[in-house]
Amino acid sequence: MWNPNQYQKFSSERDRPFFDLLARIEKSDAKNVADLGCGTGSLTAKLLEKFLKAHVVGVDSSAQMLEKSSARQNPRLEFVLADLSTWQPEKPLDVIVSNAALQWLEDHETLIPNLANWLEADGILAVQMPINFEQPSHTILQDLTESATWKPHLRAFSSKPRAPKSAAWYIQTLASLGFKVDAWETTYHHVLHGENVVLEWVKGTALRPILKALEPDLHSQFLEELGRQYLEVYPKQAFGTLFSFNRLFFVASKTS
Ligand SMILES: C[S@@+](CC[C@H](N)C(=O)[O-])C[C@H]1O[C@@H](n2cnc3c(N)ncnc32)[C@H](O)[C@@H]1O
Repeated sequence: MWNPNQYQKFSSERDRPFFDLLARIEKSDAKNVADLGCGTGSLTAKLLEKFLKAHVVGVDSSAQMLEKSSARQNPRLEFVLADLSTWQPEKPLDVIVSNAALQWLEDHETLIPNLANWLEADGILAVQMPINFEQPSHTILQDLTESATWKPHLRAFSSKPRAPKSAAWYIQTLASLGFKVDAWETTYHHVLHGENVVLEWVKGTALRPILKALEPDLHSQFLEELGRQYLEVYPKQAFGTLFSFNRLFFVASKTS
């Protein structure tokens, strides 16, 4: 279950890649735009300002996240509660945007060609995904879930974000489908403020399915152990806590 309030605690850091991605999309005449894994819809609504003539649909499988979207009434904006592994657009799309969501979907070998097929002949696929899976924020969490102490309590833990494929893989795959691809990677060196902020950050994303699988009376013990290990690697300093985060972006334009 997604918790929009926890996720939005770091909204300025989490929103920035969306705008960095958007800045590289050139398609002012887009008529049909989709935001896949749109979350609360706050960023989806920003697409109305970028694509002034477009109808924008935000798709997400979390009712909790989409609950917030009802506040964003606009005749050009629509939200759909659906799983992206089965959802299909009603008509061809000019632009597909997906920010920090596709890492939750498996089998990109099938997913990427499917998304490509949903686009008009000159359509654009613009994607951002985290590539921080080798960073301590993930490896500490991963090691803890696989430790002798915690593994027996986490048998129900299944869904987790996957490391995306390499930039080269997306470039090659999309090029073979007739796209010109602009791909890049960025490291954001966030300075976060508050107590054990990296623990607070992962509570909004990767930690969710783990806590869901864990008996509630074990949550505090698990969080205490995880928080202690995070503080060793991400100490609070006079200026704040440094949390470096790598992200992969690509904007693929259909050329044939
Ligand atoms: C990290 S949030 C990003 C939300 C939004 N794009 C943003 O940038 O604020 C990931 C979102 O992907 C959605 N999601 C994950 N797997 C999904 C799936 N299979 N189908 C639809 N949405 C999915 C989650 O519900 C969540 O709202």
